[in-house]
Amino acid sequence: MPGIHTHLSATAICAVLLIAGCSHQKQASAPPPKPTPAQQAELAATGKLIFDQTPQHAAAYVGSQLSCGDCHIDSGKAAYAAPLINIANVFPAYTKRAGRVISLQERINECFVRSENGKPLPDDSPEMAAMMAYLASLSSGVKGQAYPERGFVKVPDLKGNPARGERVYATQCAVCHGVNGEGVPPVLPPVWGPGSYNDGAGMDHVEKMAAFLVHNMPQNHPGTLKPQDAFDVSAFIDSKPRPTMNPKYKGL
Ligand code: HEC
Ligand code: HEC
Repeated sequence: MPGIHTHLSATAICAVLLIAGCSHQKQASAPPPKPTPAQQAELAATGKLIFDQTPQHAAAYVGSQLSCGDCHIDSGKAAYAAPLINIANVFPAYTKRAGRVISLQERINECFVRSENGKPLPDDSPEMAAMMAYLASLSSGVKGQAYPERGFVKVPDLKGNPARGERVYATQCAVCHGVNGEGVPPVLPPVWGPGSYNDGAGMDHVEKMAAFLVHNMPQNHPGTLKPQDAFDVSAFIDSKPRPTMNPKYKGL
């Protein structure tokens, strides 16, 4: 029965083509191969470089003269300086600002568009891959939920007086951050003016900055600033000009 035979082989050929088509499609949509431990370590090292010298190594996405490590002190490892230890295990998480659950990539980009006064990193950019690898390296081997020294220290609910704060600034801060808040970047970061974070940043809130300062500044005598002085100097810095956040990125 040659007729049937021909029909069968045509089906067989079709099946082969279908399988080939299928496997081809599978290859195209398969995730990229997992990086080896050595590649992952190299990526994390690049991420640390971006973290420590952000304007130099992620220039296209940064508008300020600040590095991540200027606020997340000691490359994100210092207690009560918003450390990022274990953060890769904490996100995705709900945040008050976003009002929804956000990914770690989105949280990183919040700091890029606010604290760095820049632009968000695309999720598939080499810079984001490096930053994620670095944060993963800070979280490996850390168990549990939030890192106990996460965020900043608790401060009493005080009100800052900018006039008093001006005196605190002149005597305890200006030597490093400059009389006009300009600092000496990249070594000494600016605290106001065009090179600083924008008005959408966490540090732009008087209470948040006071909590950062009480534990971390003055950098040469940390732990000596009284809470009232911290609120006063924060109110003074808050009264100074700084960039406005790009409204295009308000969703972050
Ligand atoms: C001007 C200071 C500043 C700079 C610069 C900065 N951040 Fe932040 N960052 C903050 C503050 C303030 C918070 C909120 C801390 C809090 O409220 O507990 C924060 C929070 C975060 C968090 C969430 C931490 C948590 O405990 O939930 C991540 C992740 C983060 N920043 C990443 C980065 C990265 C990456 C960079 C560099 C691209 C960067 N930040 C630059 C000030 C800064
Ligand atoms: C001895 C130099 C020095 C003194 C004095 C000093 N700082 Fe800093 N400050 C630094 C350095 C360096 C950093 C970056 C983080 C680090 O390496 O510790 C920093 C970071 C900061 C930041 C976060 C990054 C930014 O620029 O927005 C703020 C805010 C800040 N200092 C405010 C103050 C205030 C207010 C005082 C005075 C009470 C003060 N500092 C005194 C050196 C100093």
